[in-house]
Amino acid sequence: MDIKHICCIGAGYVGGPTMAVIAQKCPHINVTVVDINEKRIAAWNDEDLSKLPVYEPGLDKVVEEARGRNLFFSTEVDKAIDAADMIFISVNTPTKTYGKGKGMAADLKYIELCARQIARVATSDKIVIEKSTLPVRTASAIKSILDNTGNGSEVKFQILSNPEFLAEGTAIEDLLDPDRVLIGGDTSTAEGKKAIQALASVYANWVPQKQILTTNVWSSELSKLTANAFLAQRVSSINSLSELCEKTEADVNEVAKAIGMDSRIGSKFLKASVGFGGSCFQKDILNLVYIAKTYGLNEVADYWEQVIIMNDHQKRRFAHNIISTLFNTVSGKKIAFLGWAFKKDTNDTRESAAIYVADELLNEQSKVAVYDPKVSEEQMYADLDYLNTRSSEENREGVSVFNNPYEACKDAHAIAVLTEWDEFKTYDWQKLYDQMQKPAFLFDGRGILDTDALEKIGFVCYKIGSGKNPEI
Ligand code: UDX
Ligand code: ADP
Repeated sequence: MDIKHICCIGAGYVGGPTMAVIAQKCPHINVTVVDINEKRIAAWNDEDLSKLPVYEPGLDKVVEEARGRNLFFSTEVDKAIDAADMIFISVNTPTKTYGKGKGMAADLKYIELCARQIARVATSDKIVIEKSTLPVRTASAIKSILDNTGNGSEVKFQILSNPEFLAEGTAIEDLLDPDRVLIGGDTSTAEGKKAIQALASVYANWVPQKQILTTNVWSSELSKLTANAFLAQRVSSINSLSELCEKTEADVNEVAKAIGMDSRIGSKFLKASVGFGGSCFQKDILNLVYIAKTYGLNEVADYWEQVIIMNDHQKRRFAHNIISTLFNTVSGKKIAFLGWAFKKDTNDTRESAAIYVADELLNEQSKVAVYDPKVSEEQMYADLDYLNTRSSEENREGVSVFNNPYEACKDAHAIAVLTEWDEFKTYDWQKLYDQMQKPAFLFDGRGILDTDALEKIGFVCYKIGSGKNPEI
């Protein structure tokens, strides 16, 4: 099957960059990314590439090359659906905030709405692809909606699962050179195999054949949840040991290096931190936990839930370390945050540890001053308001946002590093120190600074997982 028109529903952190790369690598395919959010589509179409709604290194170049040629961003969802041979569903699947499965199960209402919309407007056969991470067996729900709510035309649908493994901040690199592309489909029928082949041939324009893996749909759906659960588990594992290191004078970075050299363990994803964030890890583990519980597999559910419990503990522990180190009170004290994004090189703040650390400090009446190179002030307040801990006025009173790190840190009692942005390492730390209240405290929640050198300047340093932290 020759694919000429692709439509992607959802122009977010996954849909936008993924489709930009497909369009760049497949100039013979027209790729239209649609979204109901008009502001977002307008930003994707902005002449000024610094205004793209997603910040990713290298994304602007890819968009510049393909946009207007064979990459289009539009709010005309129905039109793009009908014109497409292949439709990617890349909408958000947040954790449910209401009803059955509240706080655990994925909210599939956006996915279901998409499926109904496709069924309503399609007048020709379509391959429908789940790109968003979904609970295992969602494909069968999509298939049932597509097959039973049609518009009367004899349209056939094939459902594939093609989870995206890109990590934010390195999305373009990951898309251009993926470890693997996973395609799950109906391997038992000729039509299913044909659909899998059609998608594989799109990726084959730049991904070596041996890296394109095909499985049944359920394996593909579950592999994505499993990959994220394993990655998050590594972070929680090393974070759990960071607390033990702080008590025993061991150093978590030394431990990570020593174990990481064992080729069975591997060295990646062993960086102790203030806690993992991002839109995927927590959501996907909760999903896994919910599915396991649904099948009555309580030991399996408890096992994975512990990864989240550890992560919540790590975020809270970091905030409480700040409070206790600052003589058990931060009331009225200015704490400067370097970083708000959940990791460097992204403007995404979903589930960022910074939000939760700020929340704990605000509970103690601290004044939080934030600088982040890419996150807008509006986003930071929206993140705090979303927690619903206090009113929006109180959040604005407690948190001030700066576009200059030196201003943010002026007169602060402490600096807390919440994101590992490279630029933080290049600052004039003597200058920062000189303008702070004394003693000047520094809490490195990302283990990126040379705290030995900072201590020579006069900072009192706390570093995640270091046995040399101040006595508290
Ligand atoms: C993750 C997966 O890596 C990716 O494959 C999947 O498609 C989506 O979820 P992402 O959330 O974008 O990607 O970023 P990732 O690099 O995995 O980092 C997640 C969080 O873990 C960040 O907050 C990061 O700072 C933290 N982390 C990561 C650590 O604290 N220590 C580490 O060693 C690695
Ligand atoms: P992700 O990180 O998974 O890409 P985002 O929240 O960044 O998630 O993006 C999902 C996008 O999907 C949002 O821009 C949202 O407006 C869009 N979306 C959700 N439902 C629909 C729908 N029915 N039709 C079109 N776009 C939708």
